[in-house]
This record gives sequence, structure tokens and C-alpha cells, in this order.
Amino acid sequence: MLVSPYNQLLQEIQLLLNTPDSNVFVGLTACCDFLRKQIEHYDWVGFYFADFNTKMLHLKAFSGIPTDHTEIPFGKGICGQVAISNKNFMVPDVNKQDNYIACSMDVRSELVVPLFLEGKNIGQIDIDSNKINPFSKDDELLLEACCKLISKTYNTTLLSL
Ligand code: SME
Repeated sequence: MLVSPYNQLLQEIQLLLNTPDSNVFVGLTACCDFLRKQIEHYDWVGFYFADFNTKMLHLKAFSGIPTDHTEIPFGKGICGQVAISNKNFMVPDVNKQDNYIACSMDVRSELVVPLFLEGKNIGQIDIDSNKINPFSKDDELLLEACCKLISKTYNTTLLSL
């Protein structure tokens, strides 16, 4: 089901993912670029995917300032905690989090939503914002729907990233 405030955005994301000749990296990067451009409080958007053998997350696509944190162990930082909890993690003020990995001093808040394939948490979308407390339930619904589209579009290709 599509979510009303973001219906239009989700339809456009679906079109980006279905672009002929594009591969999964192109599609994911286009999705990151699109979300960052369309939503004012999204300053960095990225997708991490899990390696269950090494228990590490790997950054596979992003839009925004490049980060040194392209690999994150399960359990570390907001992303690493979501790899274990399988739940959305909204952080209104990153300075109040102990288990947080800073990518840029400008970032004030973060929202991470897991991406499921056949019920398994295989990755996540990570949003950083330079504003304090900008996220609402609408952001969670949008990102959950976006992750579902990606999972449905690319399916098991996501496992070989
Ligand atoms: N802040 C994240 C690390 C990834 S960056 O936001 C790009 C964390 O605490 O897991």
C-alpha cells in the first residue's frame, strides 16, 4: 500500500528503479539522489547491506558527502544496532546517543529503516539530517515503502551486492 503524503514520490522512485538497462547500483544511487533532492531535511542518504559471515554492514550506494564509514560492524552505531534489532531507529538528536558513529560534524539527527527480503533484514536505508528532530512517522512510512519497492524490484540480486 502506498502512503498518501509520499504517494507521488514513491511512484517516481518506482520509475527510477525500473529504468531499462540500469543495474541495482544505478537504481539504488538514483533512489538516494532523488530522496536527498526531494526532501529538504535529508542531507545524506545511503544503503548499507549485511554480510552475515563477517557480521559487517557495507555501504553500497549513497548521495551526499562521502563517508569514511563504508563498513560498520553489527552492533556498532545506529546502523549496526538496526542490523541486530530489525527495527526502525529514529534519533532526534545524535549528541544524545552513546552508540553513534559520527560521519560529519554537521549531522544532528538520523533515521535508519531496515530492508527486508523474504522477512530477513538484509540491509537498511540510512538518512542523516543537519537539523535537530526533523523526522516524523511519515518519514518512516516513506522509507519502509521505499525499502519494500527495492526488495520487490531487485529481489535476490540484493544478496550478491
Ligand atoms: N551514523 C551512522 C554511521 C553511518 S553515517 O551516518 C553515514 C551510525 O551511527 O551508524
